[in-house]
Amino acid sequence: MCGIVGYIGQQDSKEVLLNGLEKLEYRGYDSAGIAVLNESGLNLFKVKGRIAALRESVDESIHATMGIGHTRWATHGEPSVNNAHPHQSTNGRFTLVHNGVIENYLDLKREYLQDVTFKSETDTEVIVQLIEKFYETTQSTLESFRQAMELLKGSYAIAMIDNEDRNTLYVSKNKSPLLVGLGEGFNVVASDAMATLKVTDQYLEIHDKEIVIVKRESVSIQQLDGTVLERTPYTALIDASDIEKGTYPHFMLKEIDEQPIVMRKIIKEYQNEDNELKLDEDIRAAMKACDRIYIIAAGTSYHAGLVGKSLIEKIAKIPVEVHVSSEFSYNMPLLSEKPLFIFISQSGETADSRTVLVKIKEMGYPALTITNVPGSTLSREADYTLHLHAGPEIAVASTKAYTAQIAVLAILAVDTAHAKGITLDFDLMQELAIVANAMDVLTAQKEELEQLTKDYLETTRNAFFIGRSLDYFVSLEGSLKLKEISYIQAEGFAGGELKHGTIALIEKGTPVIAVSTQENVNYSIRGNVQEVVARGANALIISMKGLEQDDDAFVIPTVHELLTPLATVIPLQIIAYYAALHRGADVDKPRNLAKSVTVE
Ligand code: F6R
Repeated sequence: MCGIVGYIGQQDSKEVLLNGLEKLEYRGYDSAGIAVLNESGLNLFKVKGRIAALRESVDESIHATMGIGHTRWATHGEPSVNNAHPHQSTNGRFTLVHNGVIENYLDLKREYLQDVTFKSETDTEVIVQLIEKFYETTQSTLESFRQAMELLKGSYAIAMIDNEDRNTLYVSKNKSPLLVGLGEGFNVVASDAMATLKVTDQYLEIHDKEIVIVKRESVSIQQLDGTVLERTPYTALIDASDIEKGTYPHFMLKEIDEQPIVMRKIIKEYQNEDNELKLDEDIRAAMKACDRIYIIAAGTSYHAGLVGKSLIEKIAKIPVEVHVSSEFSYNMPLLSEKPLFIFISQSGETADSRTVLVKIKEMGYPALTITNVPGSTLSREADYTLHLHAGPEIAVASTKAYTAQIAVLAILAVDTAHAKGITLDFDLMQELAIVANAMDVLTAQKEELEQLTKDYLETTRNAFFIGRSLDYFVSLEGSLKLKEISYIQAEGFAGGELKHGTIALIEKGTPVIAVSTQENVNYSIRGNVQEVVARGANALIISMKGLEQDDDAFVIPTVHELLTPLATVIPLQIIAYYAALHRGADVDKPRNLAKSVTVE
């Protein structure tokens, strides 16, 4: 994980770096640092903690027109000032920031750096020490940088300063995301365009194992062998206002409220003037040609994939398997003859999913990525992309991306059904419009949901979520949302499964949130609720209009039964939000987590 930013130009670099790091804080936030270079030398500021603390620690009087910055999510070495980036070589000449994991850092240390005393426990310090070591023989910074990059195994996005050169930033990447932003008389480097959108919307993609020499007036992209490459910049389409909270106290609340807007945007983007579904012909052909779909995803995106499986199987009649990406690569199931892989990823950068993508591409299979970030690694490396159109999702806990993923999967399923000549008895876009209206109603019921949170979750240490069929998948997502931001230990279960072991944990007052929106299992899930109530549980039932009963605590408006997860997840997201808020937790940046998980 981690986020990196760099600036070289005419103005003072501190503000660009700090501002950039604030925008990248979603990538990790356990320590941070910047290094800026001016005529009197290098100035280094590092803190354990957030960017706000870094800002406080920076000496305002220093003026420097180039620098690099880093916000960290610890992989090697605890969060501490020593382990925070930027890292320096022993003689202090080279300073660098790194996002990724160097898999062979111990080998490199053993082979080249036996005589070096390390200041940190990080894999990163090995890179900067290697460069200093190679400089002893090459007497060239670029050549030393290149030699070091050639040896690294693993993932990295790197920006480096040489104290003796106030005109160059040295940059390289492999697997970790990195962009170079272009300006008039300045250039920037960032893990994500969001970081530097304030100063430019023109960006160059950097590919794996390329080296970039960034100066004030020029950017040169080279292969490791020195071959210079030409690349055309693209315009980043993110609106700067999308990455501000506005009047909201938290991004998560803003993003929950944006869900009806996103739903309507998806309806618009995936329909043509004749109100027909608008999808790339190649995607349609790939869906028709496959004999089985393998959905690969992690976390919340995996939960969306579970719903997607039901939608595709029921609507398009194609068998689907859903796999957790970190498991799939190392324990691959027997594949069908003509598989199609669908990667679901909000960020498009999840390393576990990318490992699978690389593997299945090597095997020659087609891949479709469903993502919120079209230029992301998973999008670039797959054959096809479907865009979520959800706008930047900043809160670590995913909300609007989840509902957007399900809506796009529904569109894909229906489009495939049409292409296969399957007759459907509903109009998906109309049903999604009904969902959007239901979302308006649900997001307006915050007071009621805050009260339910107080009634059921205020003092508890644990909670259970149950459901059957599609409601089971939403229960998994509801429990993930609650645990990741409020730290209440929460688990989601298939209603019928509870009595096969977990019911032993139910005692007086244990909160059990049951979701019931599926007619065919309405009575059985209510039976499961009775089983836990009989053992003292405090049951909160969320049902749907038409299936509700007197004791139900919360009833959602009626939506199509295949699309209920789009509605039921909203009260669960809001409950998780208030549970975290009332416990004084940092809603947008829960402990130990990062938004974009770029390490395996
Ligand atoms: C939880 C959450 C994570 C992500 C997971 C995959 O709220 O956001 O579980 O869903 O890390 O991330 P993406 O979708 O970016 O691949």
